[in-house]
Amino acid sequence: MRKNIVAGNWKMNLDFEQADDLVNELAEKLEELDIVPDVIICPPFLYLELTSDIAQESNFFAGAQNVSMFDNGAYTGEVSAQMLGSMNMDYCIVGHSERRKYFNESNEDIKIKVEKLLANAIRPIFCCGEVLEEREKNIHFDVVKKQVEESLFHLTEKEILNVVIAYEPVWAIGTGKTATSEQAQEMHAYIRSLLASKYGKDVAENISILYGGSCNAKNAKELFANNDVDGGLIGGASLKAEDFIAIIKSF
Ligand code: PGA
Repeated sequence: MRKNIVAGNWKMNLDFEQADDLVNELAEKLEELDIVPDVIICPPFLYLELTSDIAQESNFFAGAQNVSMFDNGAYTGEVSAQMLGSMNMDYCIVGHSERRKYFNESNEDIKIKVEKLLANAIRPIFCCGEVLEEREKNIHFDVVKKQVEESLFHLTEKEILNVVIAYEPVWAIGTGKTATSEQAQEMHAYIRSLLASKYGKDVAENISILYGGSCNAKNAKELFANNDVDGGLIGGASLKAEDFIAIIKSF
């Protein structure tokens, strides 16, 4: 059966001391919980070692926010999948809309990143989602279909089972404007139907699809109650231990 997952995307926030405090506080609070979904914490690269060291002793996973599409070599400023693998990274976010928008990442670039991660035993958290204009034009299903097909559908059945998908409508990210529970369920069911038509129903049923975009302690319960919503990718609300724990308790 597919897993329930809550992943925190810290983005480019917090200094070292704040990151150290937050990851320790989360580790402590997570230990007090009985049943928890899989929890993934994705800090900036600089704090990955700290996070992964604490994760080894605790009940959460560490994840990166990005990976290079190149292998090791003369690529100043880049971090390779092999480097992440050598630091026991469990997960890595790819295709986040901020990377697509500010760093011009294409579906093809993301496809390569997915491959590099899987080759190094790191699970990609693959983000997809439409911008507001696309939803208003009623082409949001086509946009998401293209993203999923062009970046993931070259994978084998075994490989796709190691991918987590995050549907993040861009108009909901950091805006305080969440997709309604119906809008989330509708798109998640659609993504699962795409997976089913390519890989079969059994495979599709075993892939976790997370919702992201202004998900918080107040709306998480309703969103996660949907059949095809297996958890969340949380930005702003993952920066406060109390809020993030409340979201984790929302299943
Ligand atoms: P948000 O970000 O929760 O701050 O909207 C979600 C994300 O970008 O992953």
